Amino acid sequence: MILVTGGAGYIGSHCVKRLIDKGHEVAVLDNLSRGFRDAVLTPHFMQGSIGDRSVLDALFARWPIDAVMHFSALAYVGESVEKPAEYYENNVAQTLTLLTACRDYGITQFIFSSTCATYGDVKKVPITEETPIAPLNPYGHSKHMVELILRDFDTAYGIRHCVFRYFNAAGADPAGQLRERHDPETHLIPIVLDVAAGKRPHVQIFGTDYPTPDGTCIRDYIHVNDLSDAHILGLEYLRGGGASQVFNLGSEHGYSVREIIRACEEVTGRRVAAVEGPRRAGDAPQLVADSTRAKTVLGWQPQRSELRTIVADAWRSRAL
Ligand code: UFG
Repeated sequence: MILVTGGAGYIGSHCVKRLIDKGHEVAVLDNLSRGFRDAVLTPHFMQGSIGDRSVLDALFARWPIDAVMHFSALAYVGESVEKPAEYYENNVAQTLTLLTACRDYGITQFIFSSTCATYGDVKKVPITEETPIAPLNPYGHSKHMVELILRDFDTAYGIRHCVFRYFNAAGADPAGQLRERHDPETHLIPIVLDVAAGKRPHVQIFGTDYPTPDGTCIRDYIHVNDLSDAHILGLEYLRGGGASQVFNLGSEHGYSVREIIRACEEVTGRRVAAVEGPRRAGDAPQLVADSTRAKTVLGWQPQRSELRTIVADAWRSRAL
């Protein structure tokens, strides 16, 4: 049985659905601080913290867990700058408690959600796993610290792991059972779709003077279902005896903020009002993945990450 922490959150809940669809038994641990109970699609749910050893002891006693997918984390870059204590406590200290429990219960397969924020302001794109690590904020630092802990836990305790450095997770369950929900919402595509739906007057473009063709930031948007598929392939890789590895997960295509707004207008058939504003602190000009390693080692091939498919799935999921 697979333990999914953060299975009530955006990416975790989509991954749980994919796992169940593929016949896996899944248990979810989530403290529901940011997630939603109705997004948990397995009956095996425990509400609690990954940092509470008594919760973990109860969980490992209740279910025969043999692998862990660890999604739960605080994940707002801006908030991490204002509240580093919370980020290091949640993302690092509590993960250490989880990993220590994994050691004690003999778990040797662990999949970790990391981020392209570990790379910081890169000198060139596309970004490979060998691109130097230089996070610009506590969120990126916290994720990289766990990557280091994992390395040491493999050496000492044999916990083999996949570290997945996500680029910009986007889109939603094509069947519309799940969608992207954040409170507050800060991500570009849901905000632009809010404008298209008449729920916000406009989207603000954060910076128009970046060294990019149209002056706005370029990001690599990857469908949440494709991320989920990578997790399942990662699990199979570890089950087959694969060695610990870090993988970038992105579509390998970069789109500017203006291109995203245009794609949303095309897909929805609605006008999206945009207001040009100043840069948002901590934003790198360009983040685009080289995902060759995930493709060659895991056989991963994104299926739904063409931009218009991402936007169409996100748009449809809002109506359902
Ligand atoms: N943007 C706007 N207006 C908005 C919201 C976003 O112009 O209202 C811009 C941002 O400046 C950025 C792009 O749209 O250039 C994408 O912004 P998001 O907030 O959607 O995503 P980020 O790239 O900031 O964040 C993502 C992940 C983080 C991760 C980060 C790494 O969500 O978890 O990439 O930089 F840490």
